[in-house]
Amino acid sequence: MRKLELLTKAHERAGFDCGSEPLNVFLRQTARQHAERGISRTFVLVEENAVEPKPILGFFSLNLCQIKPAALTPEFARRLPRDVSGIRLGRLAVAKEFQRQGIGKLLLVGAMVKFLEIFQLAGGIGLFVDAKDQAARRYYEQFGFVALPSNELELFLPVRSIQDALAGLKQRQPD
Ligand SMILES: CC(C)(COP(=O)(O)OP(=O)(O)OC[C@H]1O[C@@H](n2cnc3c(N)ncnc32)[C@H](O)[C@@H]1OP(=O)(O)O)[C@@H](O)C(=O)NCCC(=O)NCCS
Repeated sequence: MRKLELLTKAHERAGFDCGSEPLNVFLRQTARQHAERGISRTFVLVEENAVEPKPILGFFSLNLCQIKPAALTPEFARRLPRDVSGIRLGRLAVAKEFQRQGIGKLLLVGAMVKFLEIFQLAGGIGLFVDAKDQAARRYYEQFGFVALPSNELELFLPVRSIQDALAGLKQRQPD
């Protein structure tokens, strides 16, 4: 069974290739250091029972962020204080051999679930993401992310959309 785990030494980072070298290098060299120093957390999708070090099918990282409501569309900026908090989906990548099989979507759902866990403890207005290019922007838009007026490569998924998306998925699951 596939499972989302916090990145540790039990995962095979060196062989991961998503086709984007900066993302590969982040996973190999930076992600664990960032986790130790509290900068971000990286979650990896693996086969639960794989032999260690477990091959990584895909990963994402999350960190806390501070947002000025003026950066949001007026619809979302209304009645917010001067500074608000959100969660940034810093990186998202799927190993080349597993792309176009729905794993990116699965990771996004995983990130939304993690967002709601943080939301229960400390709030946060939604998930923010920096798309690396226009193709990545379109990828996020199909899941309801909205580009910020100040920067079309920075996108926002409000908490309400996350709650609705996860509630919709739950309804579709058989008991
Ligand atoms: C972008 C990425 C995370 C998508 O993951 P994935 O597992 O391949 O995507 P999914 O299977 O969940 O895709 C679902 C749908 O998104 C769309 N899609 C997939 N890859 C896309 C891309 N690169 N650009 C735009 N749309 C894309 C397709 O409509 C796809 O459905 P289809 O296969 O039925 O046509 C993956 O291709 C990747 O790691 N790319 C390299 C790194 C990267 O660009 N990361 C984005 C961070 S800014």
